[in-house]
Amino acid sequence: MNNRAAFAPLVFLFHTAACQVIGIATVMGTWTLTENIPVALCAGAIVAFLAAHFLALSPPWQILNLVIIPMAAVLLAEPLPAWVPVTLAFVTAIIYAPAFWTRVPYYPTSKAAYAVLMAELPADRPFRFVDIGCGFGDLVLFLAKHRPLGHYTGIEIGILPFAAAKIRALVFGNGRVDIRYQSMWKLDLGAFDVVAFLSPAPMVELWAKAKREMRTGSVFVTNSFVVPDEPSRTAPVVDEKRSVLYFHDM
Ligand SMILES: C[S@@+](CC[C@H](N)C(=O)[O-])C[C@H]1O[C@@H](n2cnc3c(N)ncnc32)[C@H](O)[C@@H]1O
Repeated sequence: MNNRAAFAPLVFLFHTAACQVIGIATVMGTWTLTENIPVALCAGAIVAFLAAHFLALSPPWQILNLVIIPMAAVLLAEPLPAWVPVTLAFVTAIIYAPAFWTRVPYYPTSKAAYAVLMAELPADRPFRFVDIGCGFGDLVLFLAKHRPLGHYTGIEIGILPFAAAKIRALVFGNGRVDIRYQSMWKLDLGAFDVVAFLSPAPMVELWAKAKREMRTGSVFVTNSFVVPDEPSRTAPVVDEKRSVLYFHDM
């Protein structure tokens, strides 16, 4: 994995923590001066937002920084009913639980990478593409829309992402997207022209499987995580994670 991409999420968290420290200091200072809590909270939220903007965090992270202080104040003043955090914890557990045994967390590919990957797919002939660990199906649905000659398979073992991807494929897939509740270890990679995958943990085993099963002329793509052999080519992605797509011609 390229080092910058590996540490990008930590950098965002560190920047966000710094923005919030500045925001909280602003709340304390404004409160001391005005003794007006709403004014102090607004000042803190705006300063945290401006700090995030100054650090060039993306719009979602800027908005997160804007809302953290007011939301924390609301929660302190009016605790939520118990079922809200319980439901949130349950949904999060359903999405992320498989990561405990697969070592592959749900970590969506950036939208910027979709276009880079799409540019590598044939526009003039049919092909078969599989996204290993398709999450909620965003990538395969996007590609099916923009490269309609392809047939797309997404496999997933997280129950909630699988169910969501399955329904979305039935509704929006135009018959070109097949979502399966299946482990990558039970999938014959030889059936596909392009195999895409994103996660570091099982990469060595998966690469060995790809070399055993994939046909000559097919392509194995990883996002930011390297395999033990040199890629045929790489494509940098302009996104926050500073992703790099690695293409291996088989
Ligand atoms: C890093 S996410 C990728 C999400 C999606 N492909 C995207 O690009 O946005 C990896 C996904 O792989 C799934 N996964 C983990 N181990 C798997 C396995 N053995 N077989 C199939 N899917 C797996 C996880 O549940 C998770 O949703």
